[in-house]
Amino acid sequence: MPIKRLQISGVRNLQPLSLTPSLGVNFIYGENGSGKSSLLEALYILANGKSFRHHLLKPVIQHSMDTCVLFSEIDDNRMGTARLGVQRSRNGEKAIKLNGEALQSQAEASAWLPVQIIEPNTFKLLSGSPQERRQFIDWGVFHVEHSFLNQWREFKKLLLQRNAVLKKGEPDWLDVWDKGFVKAANAVNVARKAYIERLLPVFEHTLSRLDDNLDIQLSFYPGWERNSDLIEILDKQRDRDIQIGHTQSGPQRAELRIKTNGINAADVLSRGQQKAVVAALKLSQGLLFQQETERSTIYLVDDLASELDETHRFALCQLLEDLKCQVFITSIEHNSISDQWKPKGSKMFHVEHGNITDTTNTENE
Ligand SMILES: Nc1ncnc2c1ncn2[C@@H]1O[C@H](COP(=O)(O)OP(=O)(O)O)[C@@H](O)[C@H]1O
Ligand SMILES: [Mg+2]
Repeated sequence: MPIKRLQISGVRNLQPLSLTPSLGVNFIYGENGSGKSSLLEALYILANGKSFRHHLLKPVIQHSMDTCVLFSEIDDNRMGTARLGVQRSRNGEKAIKLNGEALQSQAEASAWLPVQIIEPNTFKLLSGSPQERRQFIDWGVFHVEHSFLNQWREFKKLLLQRNAVLKKGEPDWLDVWDKGFVKAANAVNVARKAYIERLLPVFEHTLSRLDDNLDIQLSFYPGWERNSDLIEILDKQRDRDIQIGHTQSGPQRAELRIKTNGINAADVLSRGQQKAVVAALKLSQGLLFQQETERSTIYLVDDLASELDETHRFALCQLLEDLKCQVFITSIEHNSISDQWKPKGSKMFHVEHGNITDTTNTENE
């Protein structure tokens, strides 16, 4: 996956830039407000079609510009090389191109760029809504098995249709809908459940390397009572479903439960401990992805110094190094991380007022 070349224009305060990053670790440093997070944001948008800082894309586009353009050359050890470009405009227009050909869906682009981000808000994976954790699970399922996206789309379509029938109060139709609904729901569920089972041992191992004192239990809740048939549950809940006008049970309600000593981890762990758990979750996804596909994830790590204390920071860097993947890691001081961590072939970039300069040779002297 590594990005061999990156071009960005029209993103926040960044001056138009063309970078040749290291295929290993890239240290990005500069003062507050210089544009470090904006660089990671541009990479994230390229991979996911959305920002990690704002639910809208408009704020990302440079004040004086109408569009932002992101372009990358990707070299993937399984999929080959590709040129991936994204253009987003203030008026909502968007274009994604792969090797010069327009793509219809973001997913095709995302398949080329499996990106994980660790940044000051990622602890929300624990304390935020279940949707965040469903997205976490689905990232893993999708990147190992791209066909999962069609299974999910099929289920989503049937869920919308079922909810429309419920709202119209036409229960007779439900007998017809529910068979298809349950079939699609089970397909999504089987894929998610199997994924979490495979992730569990990888997560345990990763967490123990990051923080040996944390005892975390993960369990997958499918969105309805475990070990019971969804069709029977739907039957039982039909009156109530009609009353409220939507489907109470199904994969749309799935959840990854994260507990410590039987208690919801987000309710008892310190912010720092939550960040360590989230980092372990994200690293274990990358590791499992690598084991199962022989491809690797790109890690974006924003403001690591404010995220974790020194011991955890060092452990996280070691885990990243073992993954041998491409990393973009930001900090304010040029040496705050690179003094202790010197992975081979790494590069240094200084960001100042939106200008990015490769300082690899100067800083290493
Ligand atoms: N749409 C925009 N156009 C121009 N500048 C912006 C825009 N959005 C944010 N900025 C500015 O971009 C700068 C860089 O922000 P950021 O990347 O978060 O800095 P860092 O992560 O280095 O602290 C900030 O000074 C901010 O005011
Ligand atoms: Mg920042």
